[in-house]
Amino acid sequence: MNYPDKVTLVEVGPRDGLQNEATALSVIQKATLVDKLSASGLSVIETGSFVSPRWVPQMADSGAVFNSIKRRPGTRYTALTPNERGLDAAIDADVSEVAIFAAVTESFSRKNLNASISETLQRFEPVLKRALALDIPVRGYLSCVLGCPYEGSVEPAAVSQLTRQLLDMGCHEVSLGDTIGTGTAGSTSRLLDTLLGDDIAVERLAMHCHDTYGQALANLVIALQYGVATIDTSIAGLGGCPYARGATGNVATEDVVYLLDGLGIEHGVDFPRLLEASRYISEQLQRDTQSRAARALLAASDNTAD
Ligand code: HMG
Ligand code: MG
Repeated sequence: MNYPDKVTLVEVGPRDGLQNEATALSVIQKATLVDKLSASGLSVIETGSFVSPRWVPQMADSGAVFNSIKRRPGTRYTALTPNERGLDAAIDADVSEVAIFAAVTESFSRKNLNASISETLQRFEPVLKRALALDIPVRGYLSCVLGCPYEGSVEPAAVSQLTRQLLDMGCHEVSLGDTIGTGTAGSTSRLLDTLLGDDIAVERLAMHCHDTYGQALANLVIALQYGVATIDTSIAGLGGCPYARGATGNVATEDVVYLLDGLGIEHGVDFPRLLEASRYISEQLQRDTQSRAARALLAASDNTAD
């Protein structure tokens, strides 16, 4: 199998996870989570988003969170910026990288961004131009690459075309979001066949799986076999999507680290410290971690302590 030797994990829990939580956390709680994640060795942490507080109130204090974290050398702290106003706030917060986000279907684009796909891309142009002029790298996200809650199945060719557009606009990588988690090993394989067949370099791709149908790890094994070496994960499996009812969280960081360990793929994360972050956020939110690996390992360590 053609597995990569090393994988970069992009921890999206503090943003993609917490943007969905009904429990309001304080700036200190959020910053503590980010610090525990960086202490575990994670090298990219999506720390917040500079979006409309009317739409996503959970992220309204992202600037304060950025100001409160202890920046670990070697960790990049990133944020979503849907427009120039968001970019201004991100620059003020001294982010390491920003991200823009588009959808593959018109219906999802309207719900998530209040605009058509082409309007969204136009809106991103000045964001990209200014960010790149300031040497701030820009990541692109595509939602609904393996299915849409409103339109059902999605053509891989449409994903390929938009991925190419985002890369041509200047994004250094595109994160392929299975926003509602309906993707399977088969559809992941067909998608990557199309993208790589269209000469999109695998180094420019990241996978962003939600585990709604329990398929995330299977889909990631396929993506790894295609050589994808950047994976978005969320501590304790936090998350969902405000515009996709029933969508569960992103695949849990702990489960992906366990998977990578089993395959002998380097990831740079210290598992016991990651479990500390998992335990911390689960306690703050007063609910069990969604990670099966974390649940098993924490139970095993409690047994040993007895
Ligand atoms: P707009 O064009 O201004 O239109 O913003 P609007 O009517 O949606 O604006 C609403 C209000 O937000 C207005 O203020 C704007 O001024 C203000 P009001 O008139 O109500 O007082 N506003 C802002 N405030 C602070 N910072 C900003 C900002 N921009 C506008 N940057 C826009 C359109 C898309 C920007 C807005 O609707 C918005 O921010 N929506 C939230 C989008 C969002 O965060 N979605 C979730 C993240 S995407 C995701 O989770 C998927 C992903 O994880 C991948 C996957 O899982 O598939 C990435
Ligand atoms: Mg997501």
